[in-house]
Amino acid sequence: MRDPLAKKVVDIKPSGIRKFFDIVSEMKDAISLGVGEPDFDTPWHIRDEGIYALEKGRTFYTSNAGLKELREEICNYMNRTQGVTYDPMKQVLITVGGSEGIDMALRAMCDPGDEVLIPQPSYVSYEPCAVLTGAVPVIIDLKAENEFRLTAEEIEEKVTDRTKILILPFPNNPTGSIMEKSDLEAIAEVIVKHDLFVISDEIYGELTYKGKHVSIVTLPGMQERTILINGFSKAYAMTGWRLGYACGPANIIAQMTKIHQFAIMCAPTTSQYAAIEALKNGDADIDMMRESYNRRRRFLLNAFKEMNIECFEPFGAFYVFPCIKEFGMTSEEFAERFLREEKVAAVPGTAFGDSGEGYLRISYAYSLERLEEAMKRFARFAEKLRSEKKA
Ligand SMILES: Cc1ncc(COP(=O)(O)O)c(C=O)c1O
Repeated sequence: MRDPLAKKVVDIKPSGIRKFFDIVSEMKDAISLGVGEPDFDTPWHIRDEGIYALEKGRTFYTSNAGLKELREEICNYMNRTQGVTYDPMKQVLITVGGSEGIDMALRAMCDPGDEVLIPQPSYVSYEPCAVLTGAVPVIIDLKAENEFRLTAEEIEEKVTDRTKILILPFPNNPTGSIMEKSDLEAIAEVIVKHDLFVISDEIYGELTYKGKHVSIVTLPGMQERTILINGFSKAYAMTGWRLGYACGPANIIAQMTKIHQFAIMCAPTTSQYAAIEALKNGDADIDMMRESYNRRRRFLLNAFKEMNIECFEPFGAFYVFPCIKEFGMTSEEFAERFLREEKVAAVPGTAFGDSGEGYLRISYAYSLERLEEAMKRFARFAEKLRSEKKA
């Protein structure tokens, strides 16, 4: 029998996160700090709307682009949070999570050979989704000395006449790094100068701890060059509802909607009704969860400071990214030993790209009690490694 598989699919490396958590799932009483999903349940009033939609028999396909009322609420939300205007009928697509939005944007915009700039460390899906379109991912290694922000110079260094898209992954998973307005202004200039487009993944945009998130679409000339990706998973603790959205120029959204129609038909109907409620009445829930994450963030930063472990202060998402270079091990070796010897799972920085070497991603979407226990174990492990080194 001939090989049934496509080479470009077989060649894609499996996610480093999943591989690691296969080990965790077999280990009893391991503490996982690995998963990138809120530990909160979806707020009750949002769940209620989902249940109500089912009770009402709203069990049909919606239009391909999603419920009109949801698209209108998304436009209201963009207007009140970022001061930008989108046309709900032409510039918004409801997707199956931010994940599908990223995939559809790349598929709609990339021809084989187009170069896509991907800053790393970053979320695991950008590179494989780009590869599947036949595009060429060009990695920009973000630097610890810049607190893992992206600079205009770093883009300039990688731009060629084949460059078409920049993925802008902020607030960032795994580093927690954010971009401020002045950082974005410098980048916007380079984008216009080289006639590029941006896919801005703002799935953690509601979770920032130093002022409000600024979207690149608010800068002059950027809205018409940017596909903004967001969703309900992180801000509203709705990962399992699988709902996200993309806002962007009408011509790009139209092509994304066409392929979304053929691949998916429409995003889950129950989730769309629940999401309308989230946007209308969910601001206080976001505030409550953000405050709780912020307490945990501060606890972790303090714990690492007490251990004398280098960790820059991240102002977004729900991750810290401590440096473990002093122990002379790769991130993967460190994470594996930490798991085996202290039963705590953190993700090696390299799961998010080679430039994550020497770092660990620790998620604080876990209770303070769990974080406290994990930090006790971290301190014990660090002491042990330091005395091993001395011996
Ligand atoms: C940076 C980033 N983008 C997008 C996603 C996808 O989220 P979802 O598909 O649940 O909306 C994730 C999930 O972890 C993420 O971390």
